[in-house]
Amino acid sequence: MPIRPLTFLPASVLRKTAEPVKTVDDDIRQLMDDMLETMRHEQGLGLAAPQIGQSLRVIVMDCSDEDDPDPMIWKMANPEIISASEDTASMEEGCLSIPGYRGEVTRPASVEVSYLDETGAEKTMQADGLLAACVQHEIDHLNGKLFIDYLSRAKRDLIIRKVTKDARIDRDG
Ligand code: NI
Repeated sequence: MPIRPLTFLPASVLRKTAEPVKTVDDDIRQLMDDMLETMRHEQGLGLAAPQIGQSLRVIVMDCSDEDDPDPMIWKMANPEIISASEDTASMEEGCLSIPGYRGEVTRPASVEVSYLDETGAEKTMQADGLLAACVQHEIDHLNGKLFIDYLSRAKRDLIIRKVTKDARIDRDG
């Protein structure tokens, strides 16, 4: 299961609306496995396909904590939020595509998500706590949205300016 290279802000694929998966076939299953491998290697909790340059509606997550008896590993195609709680929760978020930056994001505290699992079966998931924040963050990626979009304009612009400058320095020298 190869680890795939990550895409970083300001890559345009991170700002595109990703395409729905037509069929969950072997290619999609391979993509899911590679994404999990890449996510673990980078020590992330979740990863969306655009973060490895694939504009497809696929996400993976592993939000289990160490002493959790049931590992919570999720592989999802075409995930969609079908309901969200009115009460909200704030959490400090980061993103593998924006390394070195974190910010407080407020989102619905719990959500219900429909998706196709790795066999193509239609499933729903009820999420709260960390998992709720994680799945909303990853689904945002499929819509070209990043956690920095929830921050104040000043803070967001500062981060974009800094990472764009860093990317230029990497490219030019
Ligand atoms: Ni992210």
